[in-house]
Amino acid sequence: MENNFEIKIYENIDMLYKDLYSEIKSLIINLKKPILGLATGSSPLKLYKLMSDGFKKESLDYINLKTFNLDEYIGLGKYDEQSYSYFMWNNLFKNINILEKNINLIDGKCKDVNKEIKRYQKRLDRAGAFDIQILGIGTDGHIGFNEPGTSIDSNCHMVYLDMQTIKDNSRFFNNLSDVPKSAITMGVKDILKAKRICLIATGDKKIEPIKKFVFGDITNKFPASYLKRHNNVCLYLDKTAATEILKNKDFTNYIVK
Ligand code: GLP
Repeated sequence: MENNFEIKIYENIDMLYKDLYSEIKSLIINLKKPILGLATGSSPLKLYKLMSDGFKKESLDYINLKTFNLDEYIGLGKYDEQSYSYFMWNNLFKNINILEKNINLIDGKCKDVNKEIKRYQKRLDRAGAFDIQILGIGTDGHIGFNEPGTSIDSNCHMVYLDMQTIKDNSRFFNNLSDVPKSAITMGVKDILKAKRICLIATGDKKIEPIKKFVFGDITNKFPASYLKRHNNVCLYLDKTAATEILKNKDFTNYIVK
C-alpha cells in the first residue's frame, strides 16, 4: 500500500515532541518571517512547553513569528479559562517574545459571528501559506473544528459541534452542559494551504482515528482524511496511537524512532 505522507512512530513520547520542536526551531531560526498555524487541546501541549523553554533557556527569538490559531468556541473570550485564546496565552504566548500584533486568534466573544469570520478569513488570505500547520485529531476525525460532513473547499466558518466532540471536550469543563455548542474554525481549504502539516496523535483514544486516517478512504465523513490530498504531511505518533499501523504486516511505510 502506497501513502504520500510521512509517519514517525515514537517509543518515547518526549522524543516525539523534541523532534517536532526541532522542526519548529529551525523555521524560527532560518526564516525571516515564519508563519505557524497552531492548534489547542492536549496534543500540542508539550510542544508549547518546549517552545517556551526555547525562549528561556536557548534564547530562541520569536520576534518575527506570526501565528494563526485554528479555532475558538463561540461565547468564550480570552479571559475565559476554557477558551482557546486563554489556552494559547497561558501555555505559549506569555512565555515567549512574540509580538501581540503577530498573534491571530478568533474572538469567540465577538458580537457578530459573520463579521468575525470575514475578518479572520481576510487575515488568513493576506498571510498566504503557513510554513507549518500543527494539528491534533478529534476522535470523529475532525481537524480544527471541521466536523464530519465538512467540505474540502471550506473556508473559515461557524460550526455546530458534534455530540462526540462535545463529550470529548467536556473533560476541560465542569459539566457537559458547560461545553459550548458552536465554534468558529478555519476551513479545510485554509488548512491545506500550509506548506507542511504536522499532525500529533498519542494515546489509546487515537488508535481508531489513526487507523481510519492511514487505511481509510478520503471522505467528508472523516475530515482528517482530506490531508491525504496534501503532499507534505507528517504524522507524529506514539506507539499506542500507531497500534493498527504496527499490526499491519503489509504496511511498512513508516519509521520507528
Ligand atoms: C479539539 C480541537 C482540535 C483538537 C482536538 C483534539 O476539538 N478543536 O483542534 O485537535 O480537540 O484534542 P486533543 O489533542 O486534546 O486530543
